[in-house]
Amino acid sequence: MDQRIRPRRNRSHPAVREMMAETDLSPNRFVWPLFILDQEHGAVPIDTMPGQFRWGRKDAIDQMKKAQKKGVNSFALFPVIPESQKNERASEAVNKNHSYILFLKKLRDAIPEAVIITDLALDPYSTSGHDGIVKNGKILNDVTVEILAEMAIIHADAGINLVAPSDMMDGRVSAIRKKLDSKGFTDTGILSYTVKYASAFYGPFRDALSSTPKFGDKKTYQMDYRNSKEGLRELALDIKEGADIVMIKPALAYLDIISLIKKNSTVPVAAYNVSGEYAMIKFAAQAKAIDEQKVILETLYSIRRAGADIIFTYHAFEAADWFSKS
Ligand code: PBG
Repeated sequence: MDQRIRPRRNRSHPAVREMMAETDLSPNRFVWPLFILDQEHGAVPIDTMPGQFRWGRKDAIDQMKKAQKKGVNSFALFPVIPESQKNERASEAVNKNHSYILFLKKLRDAIPEAVIITDLALDPYSTSGHDGIVKNGKILNDVTVEILAEMAIIHADAGINLVAPSDMMDGRVSAIRKKLDSKGFTDTGILSYTVKYASAFYGPFRDALSSTPKFGDKKTYQMDYRNSKEGLRELALDIKEGADIVMIKPALAYLDIISLIKKNSTVPVAAYNVSGEYAMIKFAAQAKAIDEQKVILETLYSIRRAGADIIFTYHAFEAADWFSKS
C-alpha cells in the first residue's frame, strides 16, 4: 500500500495523543449548580436527577467547601421556595430579609474565595411558575425587569460575585447594570442567559424547584430552537447592555450555537449542561447502557470544544476528581 500520509501516526501512543490534544479542560471551568432548601440541615434527593440533592443551608456550605478542595470554585445557586411563600407578585424575590439572602451573606464569609452566582428570575417565587409577572395570561416584560433589577441589588448587597438573569425579558441586562451602578455595586458582574431556548430539557430542574409552569409554556420569552440568527441578535444586545459573560442554554443539542456565539462574542462564553442532559446520562448509566464516566467526560469536552469557556454542570463535583494530576 502506497500511503505516505497517515493520520493514525498522531494517534499512535497515549503520550503523543496528550501532546496533540486541541482541547484542555479542568474543574476551574466548572460551575456547580446547587438547590438550597429553606432549612438548616438535610439533603433531599431529586428523583429525576440521581446524585443531586436539595441541600439544607449548612450542608450546602459543606458541599461547596468539599468542591473547592477538588478544584471547583464556582457555584450557581437556586433557592427552593416553599409553596406557602409563593404568590402572583413573586414578592419574596425582593424580600431583603429572606432566609435565602441571609444565607448568601453567611456563605460569602464561609467561602470568601469562591465565585458565587445567583439566579435572577421569578419562577421559583411565583405561583404561575413563569419567569415574569403574569397578567391576563401574558408575561409582562417591563414590570418584570424592574423587579429583577431590585433583586440584583439585594443579591449584590449580600456579597455575591455575579447575578445571572435567566428570564429572557428584553432589556434586563441594561436595567440591572444601571441599578447596580446607581447603588455603587460596580464590581458585581452580570452573567446573562443570553441565548436560552424554550427547551424540554429543563424538566428535572423544574421538579427540583416545583416550578413547572401552571399554564402554557415559555415560548413567548425563551427562544425557538429552530433559530440561530436570533441568538446573534440577543448577543449583540447583551454585549451592548453590559453583560460580562454570555451563556447558551441548553448545551448538548446546541453545540452549533455555542460555536457561533464563541466566534462572535467579545466576552467569555458559558454553556449550561442542563438537568435533562444530566438525567439522560444518569438513567442510561443506571440501565448499564453506557459507561457513565466516559460519557460524562466526552460530553464535557464536547461543550468545551464547541467554544465554552465556562460550563455549568451538575457533573462538576463528581467529574472534578477525574482531572486530578497527582
Ligand atoms: C429558570 C431557570 C430554568 C433553568 C435555570 N433557570 C428553568 C426554566 O427556564 O424553566 C434550567 C436549568 C436546568 O434545567 O438545569 N429561570
